[in-house]
Amino acid sequence: MRDRTATRAATRRRMRVTTILVPALGLLLAACTAPQSALDPAGPYAQGPHDLIRPVFAIALFVFILVQGLIIYSVIKFRRRPDDDGSLPVQVHGNTRLEIFWTVIPALILAGIAVPTVQMIFSTMDEPDGDFMTVQVIGHRWWWEFYYEDFDIYTANELVIPVDTPVRLEMTAADPGRDADRGVIHSFWIPQWAGKQDVVPGQMTYLNIQADEADRYLGMCAEYCGLSHVNMRIRGESMEQADFDAWVEQQTAPAAEPGDDLAAQGAELFGAQFDTDIGQRSCAACHQVWNGEGARAPSIGPDLTHFASREEFAGAIFETNEENLREWLRDPPAMKPMQPQNGVGMPNLNLTDEEIDALVAYLLALE
Ligand code: CUA
Repeated sequence: MRDRTATRAATRRRMRVTTILVPALGLLLAACTAPQSALDPAGPYAQGPHDLIRPVFAIALFVFILVQGLIIYSVIKFRRRPDDDGSLPVQVHGNTRLEIFWTVIPALILAGIAVPTVQMIFSTMDEPDGDFMTVQVIGHRWWWEFYYEDFDIYTANELVIPVDTPVRLEMTAADPGRDADRGVIHSFWIPQWAGKQDVVPGQMTYLNIQADEADRYLGMCAEYCGLSHVNMRIRGESMEQADFDAWVEQQTAPAAEPGDDLAAQGAELFGAQFDTDIGQRSCAACHQVWNGEGARAPSIGPDLTHFASREEFAGAIFETNEENLREWLRDPPAMKPMQPQNGVGMPNLNLTDEEIDALVAYLLALE
């Protein structure tokens, strides 16, 4: 008797836990989608497609209910009955008038939807009216390179734009550096700023973005592009014009001089050769740290001139801090799957603890 009461109490407890846990889990999952949502537009190029979703969805819902309603009606009305003599209901096969009707109506609906849709697609790719800014985007395996032609700024993974200014992205893909022959297709997508657009080697595609307010938005490569496709994030950062101007000033300045001995040691190691699985390699062979001499040029890996000004690194998947950086330098492919060869992906440089300490000090001083 007591056993049964105990069991019942346990069952009730389990049910209570379930009733709390299931909605909590639902909330948690809903929270997962919050930072990246096309249903929460934060700029006109995201607002337009979002507004188009509603009428299109309403039409789709109407058609769905109509079709499903007719199916359910027919299933019930023409179901087999006990007194069924085996004869078929009246057949409508070959009813020309009916067939024209149900061909023309959907064709008209699709044509009606196509007009605003096609207009919208072109408005997200064509040059915006009035003043706009241009940023070149190059999709690499597995990081995003941004080049601000107007200011001669190279940066990686974090796309910084001023608010209320249309920004036209001129996009292509290449690996390594500017080699289009070995590039793969990526897709640029910051859903709160605009729809997605493919980024194709050897081709130029365009996408307009614009932000209503200063904030940070998560974006992602939306086309499967290999081992670390999932680790190819974009961090969109919109700033008030004054803050953006300050950012431009900071990014156009030459790299900071190492402030202490450890950082100076790191700067030296940055140019040194290390033994890796794919031969001798140096940081400086792939990453530029522009010291103000000569012209700034694209590098094979992310430009690190102002590395520490970025809140995330390695495809914007790790927060820029000492701990993550140390782990990264110890073995990059372990933190982000890649096969470092042909200039695609960073090899393990087999660094010692002391070398890692110095390089971390140097990198974190590159404000
Ligand atoms: Cu780049 Cu997926």
